[in-house]
Amino acid sequence: MPESIKRIGVLTGGGDCPGLNAVIRAVTKTAIFDHGWEVMGIEDGVQGLIENRIHPLTTDDVSNILTTGGTILGTSNRANPTRFCVGHDDAGAPIFKDVTDRCVEHARANKLDAIVAIGGDGTMSACRLLQDAGINVIGVPKTIDNDLWGTELTFGFLTAVNTATEALDRLHTTAASHHRAMVAEVMGRNAGWIGLHAGIASGSDVILLPEMPFDLDVVCSFIEKRSRKGKRYSIVCVSEGATVEGGQQVVDRVDPTSPDPIRLGGIGEWVAEEIQKRTGEESRCATFGHVQRGGSPIAADRVLATRFGYRATCLVAQGAVGRVVAMQNGDVTDIDLREVADKQRTIQADHELILAARAVGTSFGVE
Ligand code: F6P
Repeated sequence: MPESIKRIGVLTGGGDCPGLNAVIRAVTKTAIFDHGWEVMGIEDGVQGLIENRIHPLTTDDVSNILTTGGTILGTSNRANPTRFCVGHDDAGAPIFKDVTDRCVEHARANKLDAIVAIGGDGTMSACRLLQDAGINVIGVPKTIDNDLWGTELTFGFLTAVNTATEALDRLHTTAASHHRAMVAEVMGRNAGWIGLHAGIASGSDVILLPEMPFDLDVVCSFIEKRSRKGKRYSIVCVSEGATVEGGQQVVDRVDPTSPDPIRLGGIGEWVAEEIQKRTGEESRCATFGHVQRGGSPIAADRVLATRFGYRATCLVAQGAVGRVVAMQNGDVTDIDLREVADKQRTIQADHELILAARAVGTSFGVE
């Protein structure tokens, strides 16, 4: 163990997801039990570092949190240290400032020898800036979207897929009773991982993904063909980032103070309306939304979160600098933080899951 490590910080940044508390617990207990370090919890992600909201974390603080959703530290998806919103001008426009020096000052004042940052691409990009400014950051990949570059799995994803699948299963019975086309809109931003996995797991008839712009004529004739064959209902699983061919993503809101200001949403409603208009079949949309981020992590995510948290703490102990824990070929490993920042992992058109779904008769809304 490098002599210098005495105290580490831990933070959770970006959108929350099931398993964050399990990572906080693994980091804190490994740091205290295995290494005798002190652990400081940084509140609300990088924002807590900017605002010096940092407090000690004990093993008691992380007891009984393995199974709970959310994060005991709080989170924020507004904290880019080089472009932090410090107020608004008279016209109501946000005023941004580079506050990286505050992060460095607060990390030093709290004697943090390293920070374990649990987050998605936004947090990793912010952490790269902190790393450049001299704060050692070890990242742990988190997001329900599973779109972080360099890792084939992020914790939280499998729980979100389970939640979406259960909800899709429920749509099946109501769709069958009413002879409707039920459209489900799932999260995932620009990546269709949740839609692809939940769509396959629920036996959805049509899956629409951001990576494969769809043709509504193909979707509608697929549904009509099902009806002619006596299947009087259809399930359409739409990722929030999906687009119609030649069209654009449907934006629900824009938050100019967030490093990633676009919030997607609304494509499901549009698809449902179009299906009804074009086929005459009654159609409804259910948007699963933040339900996919909530609740207790499933067993696989509790295990993954514990593995990731343990690995991150081991990396600190080994004197690693600017690394991110990753899952590659089923093994937990680590990669350079710079490789991960500002990139997204999306689905390739020839992905094995797409081929498998096609083979069992699923339509992706393309010829
Ligand atoms: O990145 C996780 C995620 O849940 C996305 O799937 C979704 O597009 C976005 O966050 C929603 O963000 P917010 O919580 O700001 O509405």
